[in-house]
Parts: sequence; C-alpha cells; structure tokens
Amino acid sequence: MKKKYLDTDTPTGGVVNIGDELPLWSAPFGLKLLDKVRYKPDISALDIGFGSGFPLIELAMRLGEGSVVYGIDPWEAACERAGEKALAYGVYNVRILQGVAESIPLEDESIDLIVSNNGINNVGSREQVLDECGRVSRSGAQLVLTMNLDQSMYEVYQCFEKVLMARQMDDAVNRMHRHIAEKRPPVAHLLRELRDRGFVIREQEYDQFNYCFTDGTAMLNHYQIRSGFLNAWVDMLPQGKVEEVFDALEDELNIQARRDGALRLSIPFVVICAEKS
Ligand SMILES: C[S@@+](CC[C@H](N)C(=O)[O-])C[C@H]1O[C@@H](n2cnc3c(N)ncnc32)[C@H](O)[C@@H]1O
Repeated sequence: MKKKYLDTDTPTGGVVNIGDELPLWSAPFGLKLLDKVRYKPDISALDIGFGSGFPLIELAMRLGEGSVVYGIDPWEAACERAGEKALAYGVYNVRILQGVAESIPLEDESIDLIVSNNGINNVGSREQVLDECGRVSRSGAQLVLTMNLDQSMYEVYQCFEKVLMARQMDDAVNRMHRHIAEKRPPVAHLLRELRDRGFVIREQEYDQFNYCFTDGTAMLNHYQIRSGFLNAWVDMLPQGKVEEVFDALEDELNIQARRDGALRLSIPFVVICAEKS
C-alpha cells in the first residue's frame, strides 16, 4: 500500500486555512510538555482541556497512527475547530470527547499517557478531575501537565491592587487574590493531590517567559488578553465601577511602561511529570 506521506491525495490542501497549530500563548508551555512525553507506539493517550486542538493533534501525529489520543474539553466551538484541523491535517487517531474532565467517559485503567497544557488549572473541580485521572490511568501511565504560577503577570496585578486600594475597594482586592489562588494553586498543593491519587512525582521543571507589550493599552487590546483574562478581571469589580477602574489601570500600566521602556509581564510556569504506581 502506498505510504500516506507519499500519497498526494492525503488531505493537506486545507491546511493553509487552518494552519494555526496553537495559540502563541500556549507555545512556551506546550513545547516543554511535548519534550517530556515518553513516546511509545500503540498507546492510548488523553489530553485534558485541549482548546482548539493543542497538544491533542500534535501528540497524535508524534505518537503515530498505532496510538489513539482522546481529548476532552467542554468548549463546543473549540471542539469543532479541533475536529476540522485534524481532518485538514489527515490525522485520524484523534477522538474528541466534548465534555468535562470531572467525568471522563473512558474505562478504568485504560490510558497510558495523560497530558494537559494549562488545562487542569482551568477546570471547575481540580479534585474531581484528578480523581478521574487516577481512575483512567493504567499502572505505569505517565502524566505531564503544565501550569502557570501564582506570580504570573504580577506586574498587572500589583497595578490592579494599587488602583483598587486607592478606591477602598477591598472586596475587589479579595476577589482578585481568590481568583489567582483558584487558577494557580501552589505547586506543593498540586503535587500532594497527585500523590493522593497514586501518582509518583518524577520531575518538576520551572521556567518562565516574558509577555511584552509597548504599553498597557496595547496589552489590554491584545486578543489573548481579551479572550483569556479580561472577563475574569471585569467580574472582580462592582458593575458601576468597571470603566473607572480600567481607565485608571490603563493609565498606571502606561506610566509603568514609559518608565521601564515597555510593559513586560512575567509568566513563570511549571511542568510536572508523574507516573501512576
Ligand atoms: C488555557 S486553555 C488551554 C487550551 C490548550 N490546552 C492550549 O494549550 O492552548 C484551558 C482549556 O480548558 C478547558 N476546560 C475548562 N474546563 C474544563 C473541564 N472541566 N474539563 C476539561 N476541559 C476544561 C477550556 O475549555 C479550555 O479549552
């Protein structure tokens, strides 16, 4: 039989319309994650929170056609997009499960590899998702996950706090700290949760990158900030105060950027590798 990669009829023509492998934001975490995977033939893998298909589709291609990679994510539009991409790339060993990882529709001890690129820190109940990871993992299964840490974008949150404190908005400050703690739990906490589910921690690697902008105005208008962060920031505020607070925040960030030459947001993150006992 003709090899797939030599078959010019294999779908690749649509790739030009769908060539966005992953959001640029996801890449620094994702490259590390892909580096840590133990690549083996004929395995069953699972990606938790794959968004528009990362690392789901990349992993399916790297593992090869003998393996199956399931992906679970509740976001309907993103699931459709991931399905279109897989088809356009001619990747047929991806199985998209639209739903939440708190309830994974897979058999007990059926999975050899679980990955999650900034996914597990974004679910509704991390405890339930980790219970499910423990349940579906075979003995010896590898788990590789990335998560940005609580100091992420501290440059923005410090300015935010200053603006809120100047207006005596203590409730909003508390909501901001709660939001950070929920999205970015301490690593030690997460490691304990994994051990409690029978995972042995094999490796933790820390890294960081800078997310740089000319100023606060450019940052607040960036689509990734608007789609990934802004709603949560707005939700911290009483409704009548949103415009006033964001005017002041933008001004503060712009002053900071003029002083420092640019607005540099630190994004520290961790890659955790574990193995099911
Ligand atoms: C920050 S995005 C990461 C997307 C992708 N992994 C990437 O690297 O670009 C987090 C993803 O988690 C998904 N998510 C949120 N709650 C979830 C849940 N309960 N179970 C599974 N995925 C969930 C979101 O829909 C979103 O696609």
